[in-house]
Amino acid sequence: MKRRVFSGIQPSDVIHIGNYIGAVRRWVELQENPEKDNIFCIVDLHALTVPQDPLVLRDRTLELMALFLAVGLDPMKSTLFVQSHVTVHAEGAWLLNCITPIGWLNKMTQFKDKSIKQETILTGLLDYPVLMAADILFYDTHEVPVGEDQKQHVELARNIAERFNYHYGETFIVPEPMIGSYGARIMGLDDPTSKMSKSSSHIKGHAIRLLDDPKDIERAIMRSKTDSGSMTDHAPEIRFSKDIEKAGVNNLLTIYQVLTSKSQEAVEQDFANARGYGDLKKAVAEVVISVTEPIRARHSEIISDRAELERLMKLGAEKARAISEPRLRDVKHKMGLSL
Ligand code: AMP
Ligand code: TRP
Repeated sequence: MKRRVFSGIQPSDVIHIGNYIGAVRRWVELQENPEKDNIFCIVDLHALTVPQDPLVLRDRTLELMALFLAVGLDPMKSTLFVQSHVTVHAEGAWLLNCITPIGWLNKMTQFKDKSIKQETILTGLLDYPVLMAADILFYDTHEVPVGEDQKQHVELARNIAERFNYHYGETFIVPEPMIGSYGARIMGLDDPTSKMSKSSSHIKGHAIRLLDDPKDIERAIMRSKTDSGSMTDHAPEIRFSKDIEKAGVNNLLTIYQVLTSKSQEAVEQDFANARGYGDLKKAVAEVVISVTEPIRARHSEIISDRAELERLMKLGAEKARAISEPRLRDVKHKMGLSL
């Protein structure tokens, strides 16, 4: 039996290099693994948990579908679909709401972080992890590949699955979070003490988006924060480190390491004779651009065929429904709803 893999990403902004390294790039690898049955979802219902411009959101959804294809996700090998096209997610989330204690949601760190930034905190933002649990559980998912920031949400999905199984009998598979050993938390280039995030990606120099112009990428990396004490006479040592003072250097090295698929030793070797951080930044910019340029070129081609993208979205939604609808019926029946 193949292991079912499910993951999702919000169409709230163009995906950045953190999303790519922490999530999407790993999805492309999973797709080539014959032991996995992969489902990747554009979670537009999750995007609605903070205010969105309707026209922009719709465009971003199409753009993200095109980006899925541009990075190498293949609708013939994986199931690629838009969350709101399959009603199981919203319906399933309601059912799971009715077995999830609210105290579990109040403890979520992402809710606390995000709600500080909101003028009005919407109910959907608190409920976001339950919707995510529905995404995962109604597909009988074994593995959830995500970045570090989503680990707590996958653990919540596990707790919800166990609680349901306890009350209504063995139903849901209890899923495992799969966090990459490197690059699961790429930091902001402007501030290496906070994670690179879509909601800050409008800030100049914070993120590298996958569709950015090479000149902008180079500029952002050359201006990125390295360490506070870089004004020494001799060349600084360029090594991986957990030292908070060196978080910026560590972040650049991590991006370089993941994108070149080298070991930490090999990466440090590459920079053993560097004259300074400028050399490191140049090398990182080169590697990032060599990865993003072909993606950007493919994306601009793919996005021009809107009808084909819409056809692929429909196809994905049909495949997704065929998997999740039977589980939804089973759950409704077990909870006492008349079918
Ligand atoms: P989101 O941008 O919240 O839709 O996240 C989509 C995926 O990218 C999730 O698996 C996140 O865990 C992952 N992700 C988001 N930001 C980062 C980051 N800075 N570093 C690594 N992974 C990330
Ligand atoms: N909440 C996730 C994020 O913002 C996206 C997401 C929604 C997801 N549903 C999911 C990830 C299911 C994995 C599985 O990053």
